[in-house]
Parts: sequence; structure tokens; C-alpha cells
Amino acid sequence: MATNKPACAGGAAQQQLLLVVVVVVAVLCAAPAAAAATISETWDVEYIMWAPDCQQRVMIGINGRFPGPNITARAGDVINVTVNNKMHTEGVVIHWHGIRQFGTPWADGTASISQCAINPGETFVYSFVADKPGTYFYHGHFGMQRAAGLYGSLIIEDSPEHPEPFRHQYDGGELPMLLLSDWWHQNVYAQAAGLDSKDRHFQWIGEPQTILINGRGQFECTLGPARWNFEKAIDKNIQTCVDNQGSCKDEERCLRRSECGPYCPKSQCAAVVLDVRRGKTYRLRIASTTSLSALNVKIQGHKMTVVEADGNHVEPFVVDDIDIYSGESYSVLLKADQRATAYWISVGVRGRHPKTLPALAILNYTDAPPSSFRWPTEPPVTPAWDDIKRSKNFTYRIKARSDTNEPPPPAADRQIVLLNTQNLMNGHYKWSINNVSLSLPTTPYLGAFRHGLQHSAFDTSGEPPATFPEDYNVMMPPVNNATTVSSRVFMLKHGIVVDVVLQNANMLKEQVSETHPWHLHGHDFWVLGYGDGRYDPLKHAAALNTVDPPLRNTAVVFPHGWTVLRFIANNTGAWAFHCHIEPHLHMGMGVIFIEGEDKIRELDVPKEAVACGLVARTAAVPLTPATPKAPSPAP
Ligand code: C2O
Ligand code: CU
Repeated sequence: MATNKPACAGGAAQQQLLLVVVVVVAVLCAAPAAAAATISETWDVEYIMWAPDCQQRVMIGINGRFPGPNITARAGDVINVTVNNKMHTEGVVIHWHGIRQFGTPWADGTASISQCAINPGETFVYSFVADKPGTYFYHGHFGMQRAAGLYGSLIIEDSPEHPEPFRHQYDGGELPMLLLSDWWHQNVYAQAAGLDSKDRHFQWIGEPQTILINGRGQFECTLGPARWNFEKAIDKNIQTCVDNQGSCKDEERCLRRSECGPYCPKSQCAAVVLDVRRGKTYRLRIASTTSLSALNVKIQGHKMTVVEADGNHVEPFVVDDIDIYSGESYSVLLKADQRATAYWISVGVRGRHPKTLPALAILNYTDAPPSSFRWPTEPPVTPAWDDIKRSKNFTYRIKARSDTNEPPPPAADRQIVLLNTQNLMNGHYKWSINNVSLSLPTTPYLGAFRHGLQHSAFDTSGEPPATFPEDYNVMMPPVNNATTVSSRVFMLKHGIVVDVVLQNANMLKEQVSETHPWHLHGHDFWVLGYGDGRYDPLKHAAALNTVDPPLRNTAVVFPHGWTVLRFIANNTGAWAFHCHIEPHLHMGMGVIFIEGEDKIRELDVPKEAVACGLVARTAAVPLTPATPKAPSPAP
């Protein structure tokens, strides 16, 4: 059972008191806090036939649908999700992206790191505290299951204990959250096999076929007018989707196969419509779980005020459009202050030469009578994909909100420098960090440390390198492109302050460097600064922002640039820190932090989370069924 502190009661002791006291306190308080609730869900994860972009494919769905169910909870609530793996041929895990899992590291949902994959036919119960308000999502974290469609949104509303300072600024309420993703017609097994193949058999996944908004898109056609010239660079004749309205006779068939196309409101590929009333202000949550694409969101004729990023308040700023990288989330305030009609919301690709049509949704003013609904005219064009200066401007503007700012500790106890490179290993393409590409062990790290089996479960010969050679030229392809793979981990003492320098570099090809969105599990970090070229502490350290850096769980490192992050290692567990681009992680782009090694041995890890690999095979390990302790709120 979770404890929930009434708003007007202070002191930790209060948390121990019984319901009677809570009731008394509630009576005495002017604004009593609602008791924490438990949100319980039962999910069957299974293969489904679905037509996210009007073309039917096999996807991984939850309870027969794609995307998975939206979870809405209040800060302090306990979320209980029973996951039944109904896929016959593969394991599964679900990661709760942005939830820090204080006290419940086994519920983080990372295969080989926090738990064993749930076998076909088996069940695992995730139980954790919705620790703070914000915009989150969940997704598969085994193989490339996220790209197969295993994801959904997770909204944590504020509470009297965790109020959001902008809560009174949207009198129109919240609009449905926009969860953005990208979609390939080639299935993820073929994608992974292509990435794993040697030499000339290597096959890059290429650009997505369709960008999806809440799991809906339109392959190779646009809801906008055909003459719409959204990107001169795309050498494709844009077709307007054919309006087949009325041909949808057999409802069930139509729903399953989307035969009536994107204009049939019941179709799986129909556009998302957000209804607003003129004069009202709304909160719009936007998150990206793309496999590859960096995106830009633009609402025709409207400005947005950014107020939240990754579950943290940011100093409000007004923009015409927002950039969003995989793993990031935002809340914006949107004022419906234009003529009462319908407007487009465009979602276009940035950072890579796009070969994919922008996705469209509709912002619809309901003031006008429904009979007068007209499709909006030309959709707005999102900024040019290669205008990197603009991307930097947007990202650099994000600061912690001044009235709730919690600045970082002034100095770090430890610095880890992570050089991002593309390399080759015996003909296989890899992404490496300081020339080490991550390969995950069969025994999950958390279970191995919990049972003292780490020395046999993976390489404990030392930590991976925490720096790279002085003379490495980050502007040029690697001189020696050979790399190694390893399962080694960084060991962080409980409570230390860690600085991470993400150093980008040139890829194997000359003059190319990509943007990588790095995501940290179990934490938020402060983003202290960004820059171009090689990070030089003598030159750059003094200019880092320790006054009002934003707190986030995902941050990008720009091409040929660097990013410096700071976090406190106060969360016992095994945490991944990796590039959120699915194929990059698959190719080894990540590291593992083990926090509070000694404390892991005291954790009451449920048996199901660790009973695989060496833990299951070692007779010396007592696997008495553990009753996991109730998840505890964040310190
Ligand atoms: Cu959303 Cu490890 O990822
Ligand atoms: Cu990457």
C-alpha cells in the first residue's frame, strides 16, 4: 500500500499514520488530498492484424488493439499492470519510460537488465508508484518490439502534493495526447536480421513508410490537397488519398482491414481530430516513441507555449512549432484564438533527408455547426530537415521553470565521457561508446547482482572505458574502425553526483554525423550544456549552466557536437543509458549503470524478475518466492 501525505500535513512521521488520522487531517484541512488509488490493468500482449496506415500488417498489440491502452493516473497512485505474454514465439517486457522506479528497479521492464523476459504463456506483474506528474509512455524493451507497435501513452496528472504551476492556465482542459511514431512495412525480425548481417548483406532499415499520430497514418497519400508542396526534396508525386466514403458496407470488415480508407471515421487509419472551442486554452501533450525519426509538430495558424518537458516544468516559451526526438515528451498550452474552422496539425521529419510524407491531424473548432465541417486547406510546412541551426535554437531555449527550479549540486564526484562512434566488428556494423559496443548478458544484471552471481554472469574484469584518446579527431571517420563488444558496466557508488559528457563524432562516412537522443532509466538528469566540436573542460566547463538547467530523461547530442548531463546516483538498481533510436540500441549504442551495488543485495526482488539464466540454474541461490515490498514514493 502506498503512503500518501495530505497536502497540509508535514513531516515524514505523518506518512506512517493510519487511515483514521488521515480522515481527521482531511476534515481539518481546507483542501484535503485525495487518497492514493491503485490503477489495475490486465494486458494480453499478442500478435494482431492491423492497418495503421491503411495497409494491413502483423503488429504487436495489447488487448487486441494498437496502440496499447492509455493509462491515466494521479501522482502518488500505484500502477499495477499484469502482463500476459500471449505471443507464442518470443518473450516480452514493458518499460515505463520516464518513471524512475524508486524502490522498484525490477519493474523497469528492460530485458537482460532489470528482469528476465516474460516467456510465451507466462505472466509478470508490474507494480510501481506514479512518482510525479507528467507526460510519459510505455513500450517494449526487448529486441526491436517497440518498432513492432508495442507502445502506448501514460499520463500522470498532478495532485495537491505535486501541483503543476500551470494547472490553472488551461480553462479548456486537456486535449487527447499525441503519441508520435514511425512505421515500416518490413517487419522488425527482417529489420533486425538485416542490421545483424555481415558485410554486403548488411541492410539498413531505411526511412519509415509512414509517420503515425496515435497509431494512425496514411501510406503514400495525404489528406491535404495534392498540390501541397511540403518538401521540395521528396521526389514523389503526392497523391491525395481517395475519398471512398460510403463504400464501407460491412462495418466489421471495414474496421479490421480499413478498406474504406482514411476518410471513414471508424477506419484504423482515420486522422486524429482534436476538438476545441474558440476562446479556450488547452493543454496538449506530445510524446515521441519513434524508432528512428526526429519530428517537428506545427499547428496551422496557432502558436504554442511550452510548459513541460519529460515530466519537468520548463520556463514557458512561445513557439510556432516544436522539435521532438524519440524518447522526449512535452506539454504545450494552445489557445484556440483563430476563426472557428478546421486547421491542420503537421508532423514532419527532421534531421534526416525525409522520404516520408508528413503525418496530419486536425484541430477542429466545434463552435461551427457540424454540417459546416470542411477539410482545411494547405497544411503548414514543417521546417527544412537540414536546418540544424533551428533545431539547436529550439533545444537551447529549454530552461527550468524559474519558480520551481531545483538547480543541480554545484559539482560532480565523477565524470564519464562517452564517445559515440559507428564502427565495424568482423564485418558487422556496430555503434560504440569509447570503442565498446554493448552486448546484453543472458542473466539480467539486477538478478545477477542480487544473488552475487555477477562474476559468472558477465564480464566484471573492470568498467568499460570512461574516456577516449586525446588525439581522437571527432570531425573525421575513425582512423581504426574496429571495435569490440562487451557486457561490462559502470559501478556508481550510492549517492554520488555524476557528470556525463556525450561526445558525438563522425560516422564511417566522411562528413556525416547524426543526432542521437540519449535516454537514462531510473533518473532525470540536468542538461548543463551543449556545444559543437570536441568538449574541452578547460574551455567549456566554466560556461555550463548550473543555475537553471532543465531536468529531463532524454537529451540529444547534435552532429559533431557534445552535451553535458548531471545526475545523482541515488536510485539502487541496474539502469540503461542509451540512444533511443531503436536500430542504434540494437547495434550496441548504450551503457549500463549499476547503482548502490551493496544495496542491491538487500532488495526484495520478486522471483519472477530474476529466475532465468544463471540465477535459475544455480542450486546455491535460494529462490523463495519473494513478496515484493510496496513501491515507495520518490525521496
Ligand atoms: Cu524508452 Cu530504454 O527506453
Ligand atoms: Cu543513435
